[in-house]
Amino acid sequence: MNRLTLLSAVCLAFVSPTVAQEDAKPKPQEPTIKAIQGTPEIDGKVDEAWKKAPRVNVNKPVEGLLAVDEDEMATATVRVLWDKDHLYALWQVKDSNLSADASDSWAQDSVEFFLDENQKRTTYYESDDAQYRVNYKGELSGQVAGFDESNLKAAARKTKTGYVVEMAIKIQGEPLTAGRKLGVELQVNDDPGSGERGAVAKWNHTDDDSWQDTSNFGTLVLQPAAE
Ligand code: BGC
Ligand code: CA
Ligand code: CA
Repeated sequence: MNRLTLLSAVCLAFVSPTVAQEDAKPKPQEPTIKAIQGTPEIDGKVDEAWKKAPRVNVNKPVEGLLAVDEDEMATATVRVLWDKDHLYALWQVKDSNLSADASDSWAQDSVEFFLDENQKRTTYYESDDAQYRVNYKGELSGQVAGFDESNLKAAARKTKTGYVVEMAIKIQGEPLTAGRKLGVELQVNDDPGSGERGAVAKWNHTDDDSWQDTSNFGTLVLQPAAE
């Protein structure tokens, strides 16, 4: 090895780890929702149990389905609680024009909770995966492999700025425990008064594919009851 080669080898040994470190981009953070242990009463009122749970925003439009000004589309803040047998979600929806005129339930003013219980992130729905929907009047619907309407309970109430939905989803598999992770996505459907869906807001993945593909759901992390 001549001196020049030796010098470059020594330089490389020192330089390359730094270069490698700089090149390694930090992994994008996985979108997560923290659910706090607690059992609310499903009556459309925001009881104490909810106050400890952090809120997430459901406010990203599905661009291809946006027929109104983005500032006018319905959005929501959502909090999630859990106990052994249920997930609970409290939706506070901002929607200036309430309508359930559309014949398709997903085109009415409504909220949707998508659940992948075993978090296998399949590109199709397995029997543990389901789409749960509640419209602003509290009417229940949903579909795909794991959906059974008897596992969904909800209460809804109009507010000055839109509506509130409180939902309880009965878990189908193993009882829930702290530390468990599940796949989830959240969606708000908005009829702006046209009798058709004019906007769709989502929490995480902004394609209209969550009803048939669980691979882009975010993660719900079950946390112990807050002190
Ligand atoms: C989607 C609709 C779909 C429906 C099926 C909704 O979440 O936005 O496009 O037809 O689910 O239930
Ligand atoms: Ca699954
Ligand atoms: Ca609306």
